[in-house]
Amino acid sequence: MRSDSFLAEIETRHTHRRRDHRQRNLGNPLAQVSFSDNDYLGLSNHPLVIESAQRSIGKYGTSARAARLLAGPCEEHNELESALASWKGAERALLFASGYLTPIGVIPSLVGPSDTILLERQAHACLFDGAKLSGARLRLFSRQDMPGLETVLNSTRKLHPKGKILVVAESLHSMDGDFAPLDEIIRLKQEAGAWLLLDEAHAGGICGPQGAGRAAHLGLVGSVDVQMGTLGKALGSSGGFVASQGSVIEHWINEARTFLFGTALSHAAVRAALTALNIIRSAEGETLRNTLQKNIELFRSSYPSSPSGPIHPIDQGTNSSALFASQRLHQQGLTVPAIRTPTVPPGSARLRVSLSARHTPPEIERLTHALHDLPPRD
Ligand SMILES: Cc1ncc(COP(=O)(O)O)c(C=O)c1O
Repeated sequence: MRSDSFLAEIETRHTHRRRDHRQRNLGNPLAQVSFSDNDYLGLSNHPLVIESAQRSIGKYGTSARAARLLAGPCEEHNELESALASWKGAERALLFASGYLTPIGVIPSLVGPSDTILLERQAHACLFDGAKLSGARLRLFSRQDMPGLETVLNSTRKLHPKGKILVVAESLHSMDGDFAPLDEIIRLKQEAGAWLLLDEAHAGGICGPQGAGRAAHLGLVGSVDVQMGTLGKALGSSGGFVASQGSVIEHWINEARTFLFGTALSHAAVRAALTALNIIRSAEGETLRNTLQKNIELFRSSYPSSPSGPIHPIDQGTNSSALFASQRLHQQGLTVPAIRTPTVPPGSARLRVSLSARHTPPEIERLTHALHDLPPRD
């Protein structure tokens, strides 16, 4: 192959993406009011969170400077891990440099080629990537289809009686905004002798006692083998974590490659998350969750069939319709991203409205009016 083949192929792929209205770019500045991020409680701008991160930079500098095992003992990282473990009702927790890198390190050190992963069909890319990297057999299920999950579990057990089975699901779906039927998933995985990795990226902070998430809300924490979360959404910082039994965390410290071989989270990100977590667990956190809930109810008074969480897909069908609608809202001072195929299945391109406690009722009303004024989709 000649060296100019690289650019030729890249150009072809640009052309195909433009033709299908799925070319992405970084050019769009945020409009006056944004419904595009996952800062569900508005903590990324909380004065105490900012101040604690600034103090941490003053004390430790801007970088953790090396991977955890090289950089040496770090009080702040240990403190956050203890706080996360206590929040999640688990023995221990372990931090990763991002939510994305968490399952990519964790899954391949739990299962391999003689095992099977049962992955929710529309799961986040990082769960797919971790699953693929593990080399385990991959079987898909739909998160609201529990007879379907039972069938796949039973057939996997029959075909591979000796292999381990890892079920992987999100508790609150990142694009559809619905909650998975966690009690059923847990019942079925227990019957099959499987483990469950539950990604609570979007539920952490927003539901359950002290905002501990969906499993905590349902009183099911003790039945989830691996609780995964991110610091980059309701916790207003960046980073990812898992919480589990002590021996499992010890195993990841030794074998999770994205933990072992990457620079650790900065102290400032860790401190910001610690401060945010303290707020989330306090009476102020409860107030923020109530405000978020009121905002969700206000939005749902215009969209009654929309999910009960903070994420609301507004169906547009095609990529071009979704893009057009998003651009139109932007002209009116509202950022609502177009989520297009291949991120979502063909024909289900949508606007993704993400609500936060920081939004005011007039901002939400402005959004619902603008959404209703959009021309009919093609
Ligand atoms: C379900 C889910 N898991 C994991 C991640 C990755 O987390 P992070 O953005 O903190 O890297 C995301 C990001 O959007 C997500 O939606």
